[in-house]
Amino acid sequence: MAHEVRGVVARSKGAPVTTETILVPDPGPGEALVRVQACGVCHTDLHYREGAINDDFPFLLGHEAAGTVESVGEDVTGVAPGDFVVLNWRAVCGECRSCRRGKPWYCFSTHNATQKMTLADGTELTPALGIGAFAEKTLVAAGQATKVDPSADPAAVGLLGCGVMAGLGAAMFTGEVGRGDSVAVFGCGGVGDAAIVGARLAGAAKVIAVDLDDRKLEWAKEFGATHTVNAGKEDAVEAVRALTDGNGADVCIEAVGNPAVMQQAFFARDLAGTLVQVGVPDPSMTIELPMIEFFGRGGQLRPSWYGDCLPSRDFPMLVDLYLQGRLPLDKFVSETISLDAVEDAFHKMEQGEVLRSVVVL
Ligand SMILES: NC(=O)c1ccc[n+]([C@@H]2O[C@H](COP(=O)([O-])OP(=O)(O)OC[C@H]3O[C@@H](n4cnc5c(N)ncnc54)[C@H](O)[C@@H]3O)[C@@H](O)[C@H]2O)c1
Ligand SMILES: [Zn+2]
Ligand SMILES: [Zn+2]
Repeated sequence: MAHEVRGVVARSKGAPVTTETILVPDPGPGEALVRVQACGVCHTDLHYREGAINDDFPFLLGHEAAGTVESVGEDVTGVAPGDFVVLNWRAVCGECRSCRRGKPWYCFSTHNATQKMTLADGTELTPALGIGAFAEKTLVAAGQATKVDPSADPAAVGLLGCGVMAGLGAAMFTGEVGRGDSVAVFGCGGVGDAAIVGARLAGAAKVIAVDLDDRKLEWAKEFGATHTVNAGKEDAVEAVRALTDGNGADVCIEAVGNPAVMQQAFFARDLAGTLVQVGVPDPSMTIELPMIEFFGRGGQLRPSWYGDCLPSRDFPMLVDLYLQGRLPLDKFVSETISLDAVEDAFHKMEQGEVLRSVVVL
């Protein structure tokens, strides 16, 4: 029997989101029904509403969530009713060519629920990132629900489901930041600040935060940046070099999704340094680089999908670090809101007033 619950829906391109009655099926084979307790508002939800991801309207938004498993399909063994879980958009298949090569964090065939959630009139919904968690209940593939310590605050640990994990992983996994490294993070929103935290956890000695907004730079310091650069007031590349004995940083992380910032991050690296791109570009963006600079500077240019994380490996570990006071997930929660306030939260995000608004149910 389908469950009738409230959910936040984007009906058409650019239109304000609405809270609607939706129908969530009981879980079939391989699926889990999750009672959502908290879900962060991510920039990607806004991208969906603006039609920047695809045209599969109506969307059921929300994807940075934690909650409790209510029921599971007959063959599901990984999670059980009552488990506290963080949802993920990388339920690895174990069978694609990347999984078979032992690199499941690149899985090319990740699992989502097979059955569709719908509007009350039966119109099929497209869940954001295959999750759709601005809803009292959501249906996911069982592998999208990762069991973690139930004593954690859902509003804080739900953020591991997307942006915070992407930032932490951009530093720890994709950038392979090591002890004593210098790291420069370009763009200090939720993702960039998480990259700052990740760089510190990995042992970086110097962490330089770069942004245009002084308020964001102040917050970046609270997350562990040792130096800040306002790229609107000084040349970001020169400033990062000056802070690294004239050399440039070992790892530069682009967390905006902007070609000019990508160029800065490329040139602010030390020789043989690493550039990590975690900011998502729109399809019109290009970068132009002299080949001699690409060759002559060496090192690595690495895009980071979801921080190259493996939820089953990383979420329980990161929740434990959070509970020990070593990962300040609470600091990313700027405010908690109701389902009806998601549209308002988009405006606050655009104004740079919040790191994360989190819907609490
Ligand atoms: N790769 C992934 O898997 C993944 C996952 C989640 C989000 N993202 C992407 O990461 C990016 C950042 O997300 P967010 O939630 O932190 O966004 P955000 O809007 O909260 O933060 C962006 C920050 O960049 C700053 N900024 C803007 N222009 C700048 C410039 N020219 N120079 C320096 N700083 C500048 C802004 O002031 C802001 O602080 C987005 O593109 C998002 O889509 C990627
Ligand atoms: Zn796979
Ligand atoms: Zn997201």
